[in-house]
Amino acid sequence: MHKTILAVSAALTVSLLAPLTAIASSPEEDLKAFRDYYHAKFPDTPEADFINGVYSIDEDSRVQWENMEEFPVYEEDIAAGEELFNTPFANGKTYADCLKGGGVGTRQMYPYFDSDTGNIVTLEEAINTCRVDNGEKPLKYKKGPIAQISAYIAYTSRGNKINIEIPNDERALAQYERGKKHYYMKRGQLNLACADCHYYNSGMKGRSEIWSPSLGHPTGMPVFRWGKWGELGTLHRRFGGCNKNIRAKPFKAQSDEYKALEYYLTYLSNGLEINGPSSRK
Ligand code: HEC
Repeated sequence: MHKTILAVSAALTVSLLAPLTAIASSPEEDLKAFRDYYHAKFPDTPEADFINGVYSIDEDSRVQWENMEEFPVYEEDIAAGEELFNTPFANGKTYADCLKGGGVGTRQMYPYFDSDTGNIVTLEEAINTCRVDNGEKPLKYKKGPIAQISAYIAYTSRGNKINIEIPNDERALAQYERGKKHYYMKRGQLNLACADCHYYNSGMKGRSEIWSPSLGHPTGMPVFRWGKWGELGTLHRRFGGCNKNIRAKPFKAQSDEYKALEYYLTYLSNGLEINGPSSRK
């Protein structure tokens, strides 16, 4: 009896320690290990195709999705986003005047580390900063106009490759580590980590859905979920949904915690092409 308990706890210690040891590795090492793992697991999926989420590994649902993409459900949102993007603020300025690089075609630059503040800046946050700096009210973060503007910027960036830098600054590395910790930490009543579903068990089926690899997750955002939401939503709305699924309290969209998580995950997708907005079940 006693021996069994010891054996079980020894096994558990190993699985608990594994992510902790991983934390000591550099971002470059993480990126390589992350990719090698998925390539070994899904040898038939070319690297560039991981941008298609679960459809990159599941042929059956891919066919249905490709048919849907012929008349994309998010088309009106892109048009609405373009109009919002080009409508001047009350002071006559526009988003193009205040977003980095004029906004259009810039999705791949986000999120980035701001060395003045030590914070991570996401695209949605930059959109609101732009508004507030020009005397406008900030928009709500999870859906609606902010998701549409984000969709327009993503659309104009399609084909551009994600390029996230982790500068040689301990504050940037701390943000990265924070995101990484979130990814591997078990939470909620179900006691699961992001990594449990999207890394260790990616490709397996939970309830009715196949768990997609995390590689490429950020490229298609924002996402129109035709089944669950019936509308467009941002990456942080999606994070919140996954936290809720395991009965963990979600963090706020654009909280420091989710920004760090986005920084970590997007870095690991460096070099993959932006293909947002996208559609999913
Ligand atoms: C219980 C398993 C489970 C856990 C834990 C979980 N997810 Fe998910 N997640 C899903 C399922 C199911 C889907 C929808 C199918 C898919 O794309 O994997 C999904 C979808 C996503 C998507 C959208 C992917 C796309 O292609 O649009 C993102 C991003 C995501 N999860 C991130 C996370 C993050 C970050 C965490 C940790 C905070 C997390 N998930 C935790 C099950 C999980």
